[in-house]
Amino acid sequence: MSSVHNAGLSVPIPGLSWTAPDAPAYGPIMTSAPAFDHTIPETASPRVEFISLSHLNPSTELNPIPTRGIDLEYFRTYVRALEDGGFDYTLLPYGSNTADSFVVASAVGQLTERIKPIVALRPNTTFPLVAAQKLATLDQLTEGRAVVHLISGGSDAEQARQGDYLPKDRRYARTSEYIDLLRRAWTEPAPFSHSGEFYTFDDFGPGFAPYDSPIPISIGGQSDEAFAIGGEKADIFSFWGEPLDDLRGEIERVHGIARAAGRTTLPRIWVTFRPIVGRTDEEAWQKAHTYVAKIADTFRAAAYGKQRHQQAAPQNVGSQRALAFAEQAELYDRALWTRTAAVTNAAGASTALVGSAETVAAAILDYIDRGADLVSIRGYDTLNDAVDYGRHVLPLVRQELAHRAATGQRGRLQADHLGNYGEDYRRYATAQEHA
Ligand SMILES: Cc1cc2nc3c(=O)[nH]c(=O)nc-3n(C[C@H](O)[C@H](O)[C@H](O)COP(=O)(O)O)c2cc1C
Repeated sequence: MSSVHNAGLSVPIPGLSWTAPDAPAYGPIMTSAPAFDHTIPETASPRVEFISLSHLNPSTELNPIPTRGIDLEYFRTYVRALEDGGFDYTLLPYGSNTADSFVVASAVGQLTERIKPIVALRPNTTFPLVAAQKLATLDQLTEGRAVVHLISGGSDAEQARQGDYLPKDRRYARTSEYIDLLRRAWTEPAPFSHSGEFYTFDDFGPGFAPYDSPIPISIGGQSDEAFAIGGEKADIFSFWGEPLDDLRGEIERVHGIARAAGRTTLPRIWVTFRPIVGRTDEEAWQKAHTYVAKIADTFRAAAYGKQRHQQAAPQNVGSQRALAFAEQAELYDRALWTRTAAVTNAAGASTALVGSAETVAAAILDYIDRGADLVSIRGYDTLNDAVDYGRHVLPLVRQELAHRAATGQRGRLQADHLGNYGEDYRRYATAQEHA
C-alpha cells in the first residue's frame, strides 16, 4: 500500500546526520500544509539555475529501443530543446559502456550557444593533467562554459571494468589529490613537479589555461568521504532528490565541513529530480501510475542495458538512501514520489516530483527555500519532458524568484498549489489502490 510521510525517520538512512525534531512514528500519516508565510526563508537561495542530463538517442526506461548509441539527429534536437527551453547546464554522464563524456560535451558546445556542458569524469580514467588540458580545451572552445562533475565511483565492479581496484575510500582520497592538481594545472604560472600518494610527475606547466577563470568542480556522492572532500574543496555538491528536511540536513552537513575548512565561499547545492508533469495533478498521477508499471517492466526484463549490472544492492550511499526513503514511504512533502526509485533499485537519479506544472514548480521552490540553487530535472519521456519543463515549469520558478527579488516577499505559488498537503492530490496518488 502507499504511504505518505512528512517528517521524521524510523528506518536507518545510510549516512544520515540529522533527524527532524519530534519525529512522529512511521506510518501512513497525514501531511498538512505548512503555514503560509510571505517571509522568504533565511535558508532560501535567491537564484536558481537549471540542469538536465543530455540523452543521445530516443531510448527511455518507458520505451527501450535497441540502439547503436548516438542518434545524431535526436541528440542535436535534444540539446537544442534544452537550450531553447532555458536550461543553463547539461550533464554528460559517464559509465564504462557509455559514450565518452568529453567528446559529447565538445559536441554540445558546438551545437549550442549558451548551455554549459558538465563533463562527468571518473579520475581513474584520465591522468589529472590530461583531464585539466581536455577541460581547458573544452572551456576555450565554449568560451567559458565548461564544468566538471567528479565521480569517484559507486560500484567496485564497475570500477574494475576499467582496471580500477581501489576501495571507495581510497578512490575519494585520489579524487582529493586530483582536484588540487586540476586547479594547479589551470592556474600555476610556472612549471611544477608533484609527488603525491596517487600521482607523481616532474616539471609540468604552465598548462593550457581555461578560457577565463578556473572551471567549476562538482562532486557527486553521499558517503562520508564525499562530504569530507566536497565540503573542503568542491565548488558544487550534488544530491539526488530527498525529502526536504533530510536534504536540508545534508546541506548543513556539507556547509559545516566547508566552514570548518575555513572556506568563505560555500559549495553550491545541486539537487536532481525526475518530474512527472500533467496539465492537472490528477493527470500527472494517471501518468505516474502508468509510467511506474512500464519502468518496472523494463527493469525486470533487464531490457534497459545500461542498468543491467546494477540490480544487486547498490554500494553507493546516494542509492542506499533513496531505497531507504522508498521503503519508508511513497510520498513525501509536497510532491516527492519514491516508487520510481523502488522499482529501479535507485539506479541513478530516480526520485520523482509528481503534479501539475504549478505543483512541481512549487515543490522545486520548496528545495530552493532549503538552499538548493542548481536544480536538475529530467523526465521519463525524455525529449517531450525537456520541452514541457522549458515551457511550463522553468518560467514559473523563475517568475517566483523574480517576484521575490522585486518585492522582498514570497509570491503565492506555494500557497496555491499544495500537492500532497491537500486532500485531492492524495486521492489521485493512491487512486490505483482503491480502483
Ligand atoms: C547528480 C549526480 C550525477 C551523477 N552522475 C554519475 C555518472 O555520470 N556516472 C557515475 O558512474 N556515477 C554518477 N553519479 C553517482 C555518484 O557520483 C557515485 O555513486 C559516487 O561516486 C559514489 O557514491 P557515494 O559516495 O554516494 O557512495 C552521480 C551522482 C549524482 C548525485
